[in-house]
Amino acid sequence: MTKILTLETTCDETAAAVITKNLDVLGSVIASQDKIHRKFGGVVPEMASRAHLENIVPVIDETLHRANITPNDIDAVAVANTPGLAGSLLVGLSAAKALCVALQKPLIAINHLQAHIYACKVAFGNTFPCIGLIVSGGHSSLYRCTTPLDFTFLGGTIDDAAGEAFDKVAAMLNLPYPGGPSIQKIAEIGNPKAYRFPRSLLDEDRLAFSFSGLKTAVRYKLAGQGKDIEPASAAAKLSSQEIADIAASFQEAVVDCLVGKAVSALKQTGFETLCIGGGVAANARFRKKMEDAANSSGFRLFIAPLKLCTDNAVMGAIAVERYNAGLFEELDLDAKPGLVRN
Ligand code: KG4
Ligand code: ZN
Repeated sequence: MTKILTLETTCDETAAAVITKNLDVLGSVIASQDKIHRKFGGVVPEMASRAHLENIVPVIDETLHRANITPNDIDAVAVANTPGLAGSLLVGLSAAKALCVALQKPLIAINHLQAHIYACKVAFGNTFPCIGLIVSGGHSSLYRCTTPLDFTFLGGTIDDAAGEAFDKVAAMLNLPYPGGPSIQKIAEIGNPKAYRFPRSLLDEDRLAFSFSGLKTAVRYKLAGQGKDIEPASAAAKLSSQEIADIAASFQEAVVDCLVGKAVSALKQTGFETLCIGGGVAANARFRKKMEDAANSSGFRLFIAPLKLCTDNAVMGAIAVERYNAGLFEELDLDAKPGLVRN
């Protein structure tokens, strides 16, 4: 049975997995760097790439061990080479190339965003064709996914990504990094209708997101418009109920925008299936409102299971599709940090 080793080092998780042609996961390991970046309130690129360097070999070793195979049992090595942090991408790419040279095996490129959508196929089976919504720390984008090898960009954020907005607003509210899970937690006791924060672009047909106005609205709510007060010091004076109300109202606004535009994309394209991946897809309120929308509008909905929402190498199983199609790369394959849309 064909076995592909997949590597993921686009941001701050060092991950590897061994996947068979049937999409069975023989082994999967993720080394998280959350602890390293937490004290800085966000990912520090230089520290991320150094941690990848330390982790990549032990993570690959452990993955092969869990899969109960030796390096020679691998049929191809796949690596996410776009998009991501340049220094982080290069660690995975160099490791993949070294393995390909040493083992004389083919190299496969993985688009990290497409992989986030493919996580739904790994978990649920037949999910294509679909509209793909990626909601992560770096991206909020909609794709027309005709086949696993044919993705067309439909629209994305014109400023912050949804996860970035969660992280920045959490910092304003003195909640720990990563902000998404922190906001979700405190929002459980908050009133989502306490404040009516803006839902930018929602009344337009355009398939685009904008979260910077929402972020500014939270800042003004905390510090007052035009006043030179740091939001975090303003938040320190609020009760935890007030923080929870702001968090819940902010979360509701993000979720409404994501749900609204995903439904628009389905209507505009006539597609009947929506697949969602990326870290923000782990958000419980988002999952609930998306399920409600699927029930009322009648489309098929697949949201990646929690452990496949945030970065992992199992979603790199999309490499199996490229393997089957004979789509291999030369060893001069480059890292492409910026967004490559198609
Ligand atoms: O997909 P991911 O692991 O990495 C990127 O490719 O960016 O996404 C990380 C993002 C972070 O911004 C984090 O705050 C957000 O996903 N996130 C969440 C939740 N869990 C992670 N956002 C909202 N609610 C959550 N439960
Ligand atoms: Zn990601």
